[in-house]
Amino acid sequence: MQELKSQIKDSINKLKEVENAELLETLRVEISGKKGLFTKAYAKIGKLESALKKEVASEINELKKEFESIFEGKKSEIEAKILESKLKSERLDSSLFNAFSASRAGSIHPVYLMRDMIIDYFTSLNFSLQDGGFVEDDFHNFEALNMPKSHPARDMQDTFYFADSMLLRTHTSPIQIRTMETHKPPIRMICTGATFRRDYDLTHSPMFHQCEGLLVESGDNISFANLKAILDGFVKHIFGDDVSLRFRSSFFPFTEPSAEVDVSCMFCKGGGCRVCSGTGFLEILGCGVVDSNVFKAVGYEDVSGYAFGMGIERLAMLKWGINDLRSFYETDLRTRV
Ligand code: PHE
Repeated sequence: MQELKSQIKDSINKLKEVENAELLETLRVEISGKKGLFTKAYAKIGKLESALKKEVASEINELKKEFESIFEGKKSEIEAKILESKLKSERLDSSLFNAFSASRAGSIHPVYLMRDMIIDYFTSLNFSLQDGGFVEDDFHNFEALNMPKSHPARDMQDTFYFADSMLLRTHTSPIQIRTMETHKPPIRMICTGATFRRDYDLTHSPMFHQCEGLLVESGDNISFANLKAILDGFVKHIFGDDVSLRFRSSFFPFTEPSAEVDVSCMFCKGGGCRVCSGTGFLEILGCGVVDSNVFKAVGYEDVSGYAFGMGIERLAMLKWGINDLRSFYETDLRTRV
């Protein structure tokens, strides 16, 4: 019994020095576990003569109380330490987070920045902004735009078709058709949005953005001169007053006459460089006087008008010197303007 008591005292002293949770648990099992020192001591008490029993039992009970209070104290001390070190290592340093977000703050995507610049110009001239869906039918994407089924111009646009002859719009022109179907002239509208063609390389992407505009009025007053005037103002709004425009005769099924518009190269100021392949000019948009067959398709009579269309990515690339179209869609934060 004496030996057991001194073992218990030793263990309680050891307990006072314990610093970690595993050792604390080992000692607890050793002292007060099922087969621990107290169990042994109580078993022994049973075998003592009744005169001694009471005295020894109260001694052991005192030791047990001492053990329990030291054990509880140690337990909460160790738990507090664990919590503290956890809090230290898992702490969210909000000042660090601020530094991070300040150096990597989001900015507007160049395509949307350019889109907004385009919209600003035309809405300031009373053009309304129209919208349309990505999925179109053959009539609105091709047929009504003077491209019947056999028309070779359909080859110019590799189209994503669905099984039921629906398709992903290859340009934003179907929005012009739908606007004419639902509105009477006069019309002054632009539309912007994603368009889809089966293309993928340095300057082509299967999804890209266009902006198109349409102006229609009763009578035959609208001519190429009106178109030139508005596009001249537009190009200067985007690239500055010192660029000049060149209209090159071209072909689109939905306009006649048609032209492609070049702008003097803003990198070499027209002198000739790698970007403009030495020509001094860069192509930026297509335009023309609306073909009478387009008006026929939407039931318009005795009207005249012009239309123009451009790729927003292309304008953004020229404006901010971005040389790979694909970088617009690779979420690389270095492509910022
Ligand atoms: N829709 C034409 C295209 O995607 C662009 C355009 C619009 C050209 C209007 C002329 C007039 O190629």
